[in-house]
Amino acid sequence: MGDPAMTEHLGGPESVEKLVERQTRYERLAESGQGRMLKIVDVDSGASVGSVGYWEKTWRDEQIYEIGWMVLPAFQGRGIAGAATAQAIALARADGKRRFLHAFPSVENVASNAICRKLGFTLLGECEFEFPVGNVMRCNDWRLDLEA
Ligand SMILES: CC(C)(COP(=O)(O)OP(=O)(O)OC[C@H]1O[C@@H](n2cnc3c(N)ncnc32)[C@H](O)[C@@H]1OP(=O)(O)O)[C@@H](O)C(=O)NCCC(=O)NCCS
Repeated sequence: MGDPAMTEHLGGPESVEKLVERQTRYERLAESGQGRMLKIVDVDSGASVGSVGYWEKTWRDEQIYEIGWMVLPAFQGRGIAGAATAQAIALARADGKRRFLHAFPSVENVASNAICRKLGFTLLGECEFEFPVGNVMRCNDWRLDLEA
């Protein structure tokens, strides 16, 4: 979230203060019982290559899970985000707390929209979405029914 290339579709790089705040929030997510932020690790080398996580959110008067993912540039284009997101979805489903899982990629984020399509999300339509706080983007609202 501090890198210009990685945040092209996410409102641009965040300041060091924001990154520290975000990291603290991520580390507390599991103990709050409101989701999980997971590190994606390359099994062969042990390298940390990205993250995927889900968290509770109120969306159109409903309590849902939102999911998001990131893979470092050197590891992109190998199916890692798709595979890791499939595993995170399995965890969200096992939690059994929320029926619907949404993803809100920018309409211009080709790779993320491809991941949603591939993993069985349904495209509900376009929406305005604020991420991070203060940055309004045109996004697709993709939804997966965890109970289906
Ligand atoms: C989005 C992101 C996680 C994709 O990671 P990745 O590991 O390269 O994704 P995958 O290899 O699993 O590819 C997913 C799909 O996107 C396609 N794809 C990947 N990179 C692409 C690109 N630059 N342009 C077009 N399609 C692309 C792949 O072909 C694949 O589709 P397919 O399975 O139908 O072939 C990565 O680009 C990223 O971290 N971007 C910056 C952060 C970000 O935008 N996060 C998403 C917020 S919603």
